[in-house]
Amino acid sequence: MEEYKKMYEKSLEDPESFWSRAAKDIEWYERWDKVLDTSNMPFYRWFEGGSLNTCYNAVDAHIEKGRGDQNAVIYDSPVTDTIEKYTFNELKERVSKIAGVLKELGVQKGDTVVIYMPMIPEALMSMLACARIGAIHSVVFGGFAAKELAIRIEDAEPKVILSASCGIEGKKIIEYKPLLDKAIELSDNKPESCVVYQREQCEAELKEGRDHDWEEMEKKAEPAPCVPVNATDPLYILYTSGTTGTPKGVVRDNGGHAVALKWSMKYIYGIEAGDVYWAASDVGWVVGHSYIVYAPLLAGATTIMYEGKPVRTPDPGAFWRVISEHNVKVLFTAPTAIRAIKREDPDGEYFEGYDVSCLDSLFLAGERTDPDTYEWSKDLLGVPVIDHWWQTETGWSIVGNFRGLEQFPIKPGSATKPMPGHDLRILDPGTGEEMPPGENGVIAIKIPLPPGTFITLWNNDKRFEESYMELYPGYYFTGDAGYVDEDGYVFIMGRVDDIINVAGHRLSTGSMEEAVLNHDAVAECAVIGMNDDLKGEVPIGFLVLKSGVDQTEDEIVSEVIQLVRSEVGPIASFKKAMIVDRLPKTRSGKILRGTMSEIANDVEYSVPSTIADKEVLDEIEKVVDGMKK
Ligand code: COA
Ligand code: AMP
Repeated sequence: MEEYKKMYEKSLEDPESFWSRAAKDIEWYERWDKVLDTSNMPFYRWFEGGSLNTCYNAVDAHIEKGRGDQNAVIYDSPVTDTIEKYTFNELKERVSKIAGVLKELGVQKGDTVVIYMPMIPEALMSMLACARIGAIHSVVFGGFAAKELAIRIEDAEPKVILSASCGIEGKKIIEYKPLLDKAIELSDNKPESCVVYQREQCEAELKEGRDHDWEEMEKKAEPAPCVPVNATDPLYILYTSGTTGTPKGVVRDNGGHAVALKWSMKYIYGIEAGDVYWAASDVGWVVGHSYIVYAPLLAGATTIMYEGKPVRTPDPGAFWRVISEHNVKVLFTAPTAIRAIKREDPDGEYFEGYDVSCLDSLFLAGERTDPDTYEWSKDLLGVPVIDHWWQTETGWSIVGNFRGLEQFPIKPGSATKPMPGHDLRILDPGTGEEMPPGENGVIAIKIPLPPGTFITLWNNDKRFEESYMELYPGYYFTGDAGYVDEDGYVFIMGRVDDIINVAGHRLSTGSMEEAVLNHDAVAECAVIGMNDDLKGEVPIGFLVLKSGVDQTEDEIVSEVIQLVRSEVGPIASFKKAMIVDRLPKTRSGKILRGTMSEIANDVEYSVPSTIADKEVLDEIEKVVDGMKK
């Protein structure tokens, strides 16, 4: 534990020397002038004056070090019955050509490119291709509906959109092109071009003049070399849910990101060049950005791109097959995936027959690891199961445990210790005073945050300051609540805002409410998260109808569910809504979502003193009870 203590203290006392040492693992064109620039707080910058190329570090550098023939990417797709392997040499060839396509379409350093793609190697290659020429990518998860995609296109203003004809969800083919066309139609900002990868499962119709066939373009493209970019230049924008319906465009830089992620592979995950690492997530989420694409490749490891589910593709042994077939050392996934496997195979019958002795550890994130999931997976796999807590904003873990440094004994329910660089404090939500050990409060981190964390919100410095930096001056407000025990272990207790976590996916109840309110019969609504055995939480809606509506309640509920599906996306898993006469509100008219959520989740609650009419709560209780029966 001494090693951790020394490292942690050093990272807080002398962050510049700590991170400049880590930065030696990265290839730079120009060394930085200043490791940490705090002259314009809270907009601090890491490695000011330095220049590098992230794609060079993730691909070309390994070839120069003699790893050209090592597998860089293994694409394992049970839904198409395909396994493809790309060495670093092959990856470089494809990425350079895709970068060439972008250049031919006029994309220059600093331009933005939206990537709307399923889990195929071309998605990862597109991200690296952007990084190669200094373009800023913004990947949008395939499970979002056209409107959500449109909001992101509108904000990111891409010159080019890279997409594919379809995604495959189990046995379903999800056509991407109609969603893309609709999104472009909805957005005021239109891309100049779209490049569409035609998958054999479905052919997309291309619009003359705007759309291009990927393979044709790539075949004739000139390979593009890596260009130097400033360490402080944006590498990508990744939109994530905020408390309102408008998502936040988290901006990541190049230099700090490369340094922190490479450091994390070694110390947190215990991964060296040549190891095989698998993050079973999607490139549309931050886990996919950091741990499917950038971190494993920066470390010279082999990364797995898995296009499938934990269950039913074809069975609950799917994860164990991938581990044994590709010699996976570390698996990173969300607890919900493990719960899905456990539900279908509680006795681990599908586990028998696979040799997973290559597996060193299982890392979990995206939601709290509940003790049941922890015990079950630890007993089944016989390896350390490590919960670690992080967010899109931070890009890597704030609290976790180590496989590349001494591992702390695990306390189920805790994500363990703050990672180097994170000066974590528990604050009283009202006064901002620090809370004593064992007491719950909001989790805040002293700024500056370490390298690899976000540098601002795209086109919105003001929202960056207002949402994160102004609430508790001098601290980054995480939006999560929790406590630290007497041994310094951190326990994450959930969000303090209107964000819910559905199957490890962060979703805004605000965006669902906006969709619900688009129904003509709905006057008011509240969407809250209800605990769910499989997905952690699922949204439920409470609707107040306008008077004189002549549709049946069932009709309205099913249309509202369809509205959320088509406006937010199927990933919201919005499947339940109830009609109520009134919503509980404060005297100033604010809907008491927190109290409603306590009622729905059978948490003992006290009636807020600000409530306008406490009888409404009885009605909500009755409706919830009725739903649960
Ligand atoms: N494109 C289009 N639709 C998608 C999609 C995508 N990329 N991903 C999910 N969807 C759809 C699903 O088909 C489903 O649609 P349906 O309502 O028609 O069935 C809906 O969105 C909900 O999907 P999902 O949350 O995946 O639920 P599921 O019931 O299909 O599967 C789990 C449940 C637990 C197996 C699944 O959620 C899972 O694997 N979770 C792991 C999550 C994860 O890796 N998170 C990353 C953070 S580390
Ligand atoms: P995202 O930005 O999508 O990664 O979601 C981040 C949010 O997910 C956090 O603010 C937490 O609420 C939740 N979360 C992620 N990892 C964990 C974890 N290990 N334990 C508890 N909550 C988590």
